[in-house]
Amino acid sequence: MGCVSHVDDAATPMTSASAGGSRAGARSTAVSRDAVPATLEARPLAGLGARLAATSTVPAPVLAVDLDAFDANASELLRRAAGRPLRLATKSVRVPFLIERGLAAGFTGLMTYHLAEALWWVERGVDDVLMGYPSVDRTALDALVRDDRARRAVTLMVDDLAHLELLVAALDRAPASEVPVRVCLDIDASLRLGPVHLGVRRSPVRNPEDAVALVRHADPRIEVRGVMFYEAQVAGLPDTSPAVRVVKKASLAELARRRGAVVAALEAELARPLELVNGGGTGSIAATGQDRVVTEITSGSGLLSPTLFDGYRLRPGEQRLLPAAFIGLDVVRRPAPGIVTAFSGGYIASGPVGPARAPRPFLPEGLRLLGTEGAGEVQTPLRGAAARGLRIGDRVWLRHAKAGEVMERFAEVALVSGPEGAVVVDRAPTYRGHSLTFG
Ligand SMILES: Cc1ncc(COP(=O)(O)O)c(C=O)c1O
Repeated sequence: MGCVSHVDDAATPMTSASAGGSRAGARSTAVSRDAVPATLEARPLAGLGARLAATSTVPAPVLAVDLDAFDANASELLRRAAGRPLRLATKSVRVPFLIERGLAAGFTGLMTYHLAEALWWVERGVDDVLMGYPSVDRTALDALVRDDRARRAVTLMVDDLAHLELLVAALDRAPASEVPVRVCLDIDASLRLGPVHLGVRRSPVRNPEDAVALVRHADPRIEVRGVMFYEAQVAGLPDTSPAVRVVKKASLAELARRRGAVVAALEAELARPLELVNGGGTGSIAATGQDRVVTEITSGSGLLSPTLFDGYRLRPGEQRLLPAAFIGLDVVRRPAPGIVTAFSGGYIASGPVGPARAPRPFLPEGLRLLGTEGAGEVQTPLRGAAARGLRIGDRVWLRHAKAGEVMERFAEVALVSGPEGAVVVDRAPTYRGHSLTFG
């Protein structure tokens, strides 16, 4: 295991409900008992194929979101947080309607990935937006410092003197204001075992001394709101082996010590408590929440529960998150017995390249990608027992490896809700559908 965010061999087989992707609608909604973890059986998965078939009038490729599963996931994530505020990571959703639904369900504030995106949300009325990443976008920085409402609502992420210098330059260009610009320090949360680095490469700020040195350079127009520690080697790493679990435990213990020391040093330097100590991600809500120093946890992917999140062990009392986003493709060819070819489908996830980054065939059960072609730019061949029963025009469903990224390939999502037999289909634009592109 080297530098990891989401590991490539993460995927354990998840649930599969057999369902027909037929023109005439669902053929079978029987759930394969062998394949479905017990906790899923209690959830409304049995009718999933039929629910998705309700989108049959929406032309493919279609991105369907099961709103009932989304809502159940929101409740489960909030339950795992046990009262600790959960901040919604927008990059993992990228559909404004769904982001607002998460806020309405009880998420507190947003973590955005682009400063222009943060400003868009402020325009839309959100008053607590934490940038999860530094911004060197001078245009967006200028817009931020010229708008007092944005200054109050947005907290910038910094981990380098250069970030502060860019901000000071923007402040020097702007009219004076009584409202400080708020920043959060990104602190490296990786685990170092000798020369081995476990975690992501983000911030050079690691220790109390680094953090204090950076804060000492802050201009009086800048207010340090808090710190963030994103422990990707815990939150974004599925529990694939006992060794992984040992590393996670060691990492959490090391992090709790260092986090406490960094926060104490900064509070002593600033002579006031920090308002914000952010940590975690979907895969570590309960574990990160055990450290009382942490004031809030970030989560996003769990709302849609893509395949890279299938391999997490449940803690006692936790419910499994439900797959909520599905890519519908239509079969356009039958090149050979046992193989069908669907239109489009090559929605490969970012990260270390490997099979786990490809979309995974989901319904009907028993389809798989071809090793020689994978998921293609314009067409995706699929083989397996279920392919024999598929005809041209039938719809098949795949799940993406990540949560928000695939939304960049669709202008809108088809929202599916309600019980089998009374399924309602609605639509909501993605960022792309709103003509927004933030990278
Ligand atoms: C700073 C930060 N916090 C939290 C997360 C976790 O988000 P999610 O719950 O979507 O995995 C991420 C994801 O990359 C992140 O970059």
